[in-house]
Amino acid sequence: MLSRMNLVCVIIYVSLLLSFSIEIIEATPIISKRETFHEKKPSPFNTVIIFGDSTCDNGNTWRLSNYTYPPKKFFYKGRFSNGPTWVEYLSKLLHAKEMNYAYGGATTDTNYVKAVSGFDGEIPVPGIKQEVEDKFKTQVSAKSLNPDKTLYIVAHQGNDYLNNPKIFPVECVKHLYDVWVELANFGAKHILINNFFNLKNLPEVTKNYGVISRLLTGLVSKMHNAAIDGFVWQFKRTHKDVKFYILPMDQVWEEFKDPNLKKSLGITDVNSACVLRIDKTKNYTICPNPDEHFYWDHIHPSTKVHNFIAVKVYNIITGQK
Ligand SMILES: *[C@@H]1O[C@H](CO)[C@@H](O)[C@H](O)[C@H]1NC(C)=O
Ligand SMILES: *[C@@H]1O[C@H](CO)[C@@H](O)[C@H](O)[C@H]1NC(C)=O
Repeated sequence: MLSRMNLVCVIIYVSLLLSFSIEIIEATPIISKRETFHEKKPSPFNTVIIFGDSTCDNGNTWRLSNYTYPPKKFFYKGRFSNGPTWVEYLSKLLHAKEMNYAYGGATTDTNYVKAVSGFDGEIPVPGIKQEVEDKFKTQVSAKSLNPDKTLYIVAHQGNDYLNNPKIFPVECVKHLYDVWVELANFGAKHILINNFFNLKNLPEVTKNYGVISRLLTGLVSKMHNAAIDGFVWQFKRTHKDVKFYILPMDQVWEEFKDPNLKKSLGITDVNSACVLRIDKTKNYTICPNPDEHFYWDHIHPSTKVHNFIAVKVYNIITGQK
C-alpha cells in the first residue's frame, strides 16, 4: 500500500531521477580506476549488432509498447535501467555504429519459451532467434557489412528460465547455439556472448519470488554456464574462422564484492533494488540514493554497472583482436 507520504517521496525522487538520467546520456563512458582502459586506434570495429533481452535493449520494447513499458518515470528512455546499457557504452568506446535488435523480455526463441513483456506479460516480443530472422535479416544484407569490422553480440540473461522454470539449461543453451550458427552462416566473423551471473547474487527481495527461489535451488546458473562451455567448445571446433568472445558476467558480479571497486564507482548498495514495483500497480517506489545502487530494479543492474561492463568488454575484445 502506498501512503500519501510515500507518494510524495516517490514524486520527489522521480524528479531527482529524471534530472540524473538526462545528465547520464550526454556523458561519455566513465572509466573506473579498477579497469585500465587503453584505447585501441583505429577502432577494431565500426559496427556493433546486438541481439538480446532487457540487459541490452535500448528502447525496442518501449517503442513496441507505445512508450508505456518500462515506464519512463522510473526507467531511462526505454532502458531497463537508469541510463544507457553496456552495449551502448561499448559502441561509443569503439566509435562504432550501434544496430540494436534486443527486446526486453526476449527468450532464446519465442517458439520454445514464449517471450513477453509489459506490466503483466501482456505484450508479445520477439525471442532472440526472431530478432535475427524477422528483424535483422529481413532489413540488412550481409554485403552491406564488413565482417572483419562487425561485432555481433548475443546477450541472454535467462528469461527462458523465468517464464518456464522447468526447462533444461542444456536445451536452452542449444537454442542460443543455433543463433550463433545462424549468424556465422550469415557471415559473422566476430561474435560475443555472455555467461550467466549467479542467481544467488540477486537482491534479497527477488530471491523470495516463487520462480527465482525454485531456480536457485535448481542450480540453474551453474548448469547454464556449464552448458555454455560445452556449446562454445563445439562451436569453436566447427567454426574456426569465427572469433568468439565471452563476457564473464559471473565475474562482474563477484568483482563487485571488492570494497575498493564499489568505492571508486560510488556504489554503496549491492543488495537491494532502487526502484521496486508496488504490488500489482503501475507504480514504483524509488530509493533516496539512486546513483549508489548496483541494482536498478529487482533484476537489472544500474547504468554505472553497465558502464563498468562495457569497459570490461572493450578490454576483452581489443585484447584478443
Ligand atoms: C500500440 O499502438 C498501435 C497503433 O495504435 C496498436 O496497434 C498496438 O496494439 C499498440 N500496442 C500496445 C502494446 O498497446
Ligand atoms: C499510483 O497508482 C495509483 C493507482 O493504483 C494511481 O492512482 C496513482 O496516480 C499512481 N501514482 C503514481 C505516482 O504513478
